[in-house]
Amino acid sequence: MRGRFITFEGIEGCGKSTQHRLLADHLLARGLRVLLTREPGGTPLGEALRAILLDPASSPTPMAELLILEAARAQHVSTLIAPALARGEWVLSDRFADASLAYQGAARGLGLDTVAALNAMVCGATRPDRTLVLDLDVELALERARRRASTTASNRRFEDEDLAFHRTVAEAYRALSAREPERVRTVDASGTPDEVLARVLAAVEDLL
Ligand code: TMP
Repeated sequence: MRGRFITFEGIEGCGKSTQHRLLADHLLARGLRVLLTREPGGTPLGEALRAILLDPASSPTPMAELLILEAARAQHVSTLIAPALARGEWVLSDRFADASLAYQGAARGLGLDTVAALNAMVCGATRPDRTLVLDLDVELALERARRRASTTASNRRFEDEDLAFHRTVAEAYRALSAREPERVRTVDASGTPDEVLARVLAAVEDLL
């Protein structure tokens, strides 16, 4: 039987990476086979492209940025995600195609149609069964992300964008959830990691 494909989305600092790991631990404890991965990344090529994408010295144009992300995604889908799903595994990805709709389509202004067309070409039939959008107050989330960035210096190119950029991303995720309510679920990301995990589990329970 084909596995399940769950993706985590949200703005920087929303806590999605923590929930990504906690859900994996939960599924492993239930005896399921789980593949944890992320975008951009997940493959050697994807991780190399991630380093280029996040490097403040890169300064790609919005279209160049989108194509780098789609190249990483093409490799990710074909060599990692689709084979794992075919083996019956649960694939949990920290971000996927919806991130390009929200960041490049909405916030960078490339338009949802352009991004959706590329996503369709690159992903084919590999679509998430469920997408969890972790929803947290934008200012609170950014403060968290920036506190973390000052210690790990990981992702300044996106985190240093202004508040309006991140509000546009959050709004785009809400619109995706309104358009595809069955697949895209908004999860309240306030509270402790365990409180949020309980909401995450409720949002995937029907897939178990
Ligand atoms: P991360 O913060 O989840 O590690 O993701 C790295 C950055 O990449 C994040 O700031 C959002 C950005 N990103 C996009 O802009 N578009 C995409 O399609 C993906 C997957 C990530």
